[in-house]
Amino acid sequence: MLGVCYYPEHWPEKMWAQDAKEMRELGLRYVRIGEFAWSRIEFSEGVYTFDWLDRAIETLADAGLEVIMCTPTATPPKWLIDKYPDILPVDINTGTKRGFGSRRHYDFSSKNYFREAMRISEVLAKRYGEHPAICGWQTDNEIACHDTTHSGSPAAKKAFHAWCQTRYKTIDKLNTDWGTVFWSMEYQSFDQIELPILAVTETHPAHQLAYRRFSSDQVIQFHNKMIAIIRQYAPDRFVTHNFIPMVDTQTDNYALAENLDFVSYDNYPLGRSDMFFKDKPAKEFKPYMRTGHPDFASYDFDQSRGISKKNFWIMEQQPGPVNWAHHNPRPEKGMVRLWSWQAFAHGADCVCYFRWRQAPFAQEQMHAGVKRNDNSKSAAWAEIEQMRDELKTVEFSIDAPIQARVAILSGTTNQWVSEIERQGDSYNHQQIEFSYYSALRQLGLVVDFISIKGDFSQYDLILAPCLPIVDDAFIEKCKDSNAHFVFGPRSGGKTDELSLAPNLPPGKLQALLPIKVLSTETIRPDCSEQLKYKDKTFESRCWREELEITKDVIVDARYHDQSPAVVRHENTSYIATLTCDDFLIEQFEHLATELDIATVRLPKDMRIVYRGDLAYIFNYAGIAQTFPAKNMGTYLLGQASMSPYDVAIIKLNNQ
Ligand code: GAL
Repeated sequence: MLGVCYYPEHWPEKMWAQDAKEMRELGLRYVRIGEFAWSRIEFSEGVYTFDWLDRAIETLADAGLEVIMCTPTATPPKWLIDKYPDILPVDINTGTKRGFGSRRHYDFSSKNYFREAMRISEVLAKRYGEHPAICGWQTDNEIACHDTTHSGSPAAKKAFHAWCQTRYKTIDKLNTDWGTVFWSMEYQSFDQIELPILAVTETHPAHQLAYRRFSSDQVIQFHNKMIAIIRQYAPDRFVTHNFIPMVDTQTDNYALAENLDFVSYDNYPLGRSDMFFKDKPAKEFKPYMRTGHPDFASYDFDQSRGISKKNFWIMEQQPGPVNWAHHNPRPEKGMVRLWSWQAFAHGADCVCYFRWRQAPFAQEQMHAGVKRNDNSKSAAWAEIEQMRDELKTVEFSIDAPIQARVAILSGTTNQWVSEIERQGDSYNHQQIEFSYYSALRQLGLVVDFISIKGDFSQYDLILAPCLPIVDDAFIEKCKDSNAHFVFGPRSGGKTDELSLAPNLPPGKLQALLPIKVLSTETIRPDCSEQLKYKDKTFESRCWREELEITKDVIVDARYHDQSPAVVRHENTSYIATLTCDDFLIEQFEHLATELDIATVRLPKDMRIVYRGDLAYIFNYAGIAQTFPAKNMGTYLLGQASMSPYDVAIIKLNNQ
């Protein structure tokens, strides 16, 4: 299924019917509308103008399109801000108000905004909840985008006091749990507590973690209330939200997704790659400049599937250059199609393109659309046509499941801990998680993302690239599981309040693996040292832990001085250092072989993934390459010899 994001309010009404007709011709079924239209719906307080929106919905429905309606709360209008200036959030880096004039200018702790956002959501849900043309709802737009989870406002501070009181009950407990005796930070009452911002130097890590947990809870509370309102008036329609990359929400994504029917993700492979790989040398970056890294989009797809434990939608996909990255290249010819197939292969049920037509005005006028602003067809058009035709011929089914035997344990708390206490500039949580993921994908493995509270039963190999805080329930689950666990450095090292594990890192993990981390060093990325694994030499980089092991612990790899670097005991391995991708590939390949999980070393930049009885193969390379495995089944699309940026789909034998 395909769809598009459309802004009828940006175009003369006389264009709508033709737009809708062309959307159908292009094979689109869904149109998302309304997410920034508040000022057109309620131009001044309580004065609603729905006639245009009614007609837009009718026009789209008449053409046979189904509409996804959004709450417009990402863009509170000027009159509302003027009436309630406390809606504006306060920048935690400067302490100044973030102004009106773009979007997402609201504070999750503003009581006025909470009320007003729910009011407009209710007005819309009441009017359109049961509308036959509306198949589902999107809450807000990209919650947390533009660093808006945190606010340094008086309202946030007050709400934080209440949150602390609920969590810690007494100020003495908070003082003890945090360790505020350090630097004379002890509090006498909850209302004395500052937000951990704008201090002279670093603020208390436990305080920072509490503030992040609190801010995340504020977002979730806001979002859950909005979902509940929509459900009240639209009981039979789906409710989704379009996520940004999980690492950017600064929110517990599993909790944020909990009450949705499914998660949607906004897929901007080039924009996101440009930001993520900005420090990579040109030699490494340039091959992917117009494609994105072969694992980068799927890293977010697999997380989108993981946080809801269901299939997901792509609510926005870039059809050409975007306008917001450091640099905004054009996609290679074929990539719009490749990304679309890749999303389906990793569990998408629908791919919507952003946006129908390039806006002639305003901030995003340099952002490509499926059509150009003069209404001509952009380069993406032909590729979407191809998708339309291929979806009809390939036996792709949204009911086809993805079955992974390998999972990555992921969660926002891990990310917070490593952001709050970096210890070395080159420790980057996302890059580390990505390197584990990419190594697994380079071995042709299908990967799920799960939380520590998830169900481990289907997996044979579970990896935690960074898991500093674990609880007793998690340890029990590991003990009860038959999976092999791999923990990356700094795992288990912290208490729930971000203090050092009293029995030394890896703390509670010592119940699975009798080792202790005696000391930790971080070193410059250009000063890596040797890591000896079997008869090969790899790199130990950036983060290195000194291990003490008991005699029944097996040493898999050693540092340059022969001390243990990668160890294992029964079904638990511990990698005490950051390392190079080649080592991860080598080690995961050995583990998979031991666990009887089939791996395949594909040509560079070729990837394979399985959904139902189909195997999807992607050639991200700018050269023709041949898929090496033979007799897997029948090609439904493409063939073993693949041109640059091509897709092949095999119907597997014996399925
Ligand atoms: C998304 C956002 C859209 C639009 C798009 C441009 O992040 O949801 O509204 O701004 O980026 O790429």
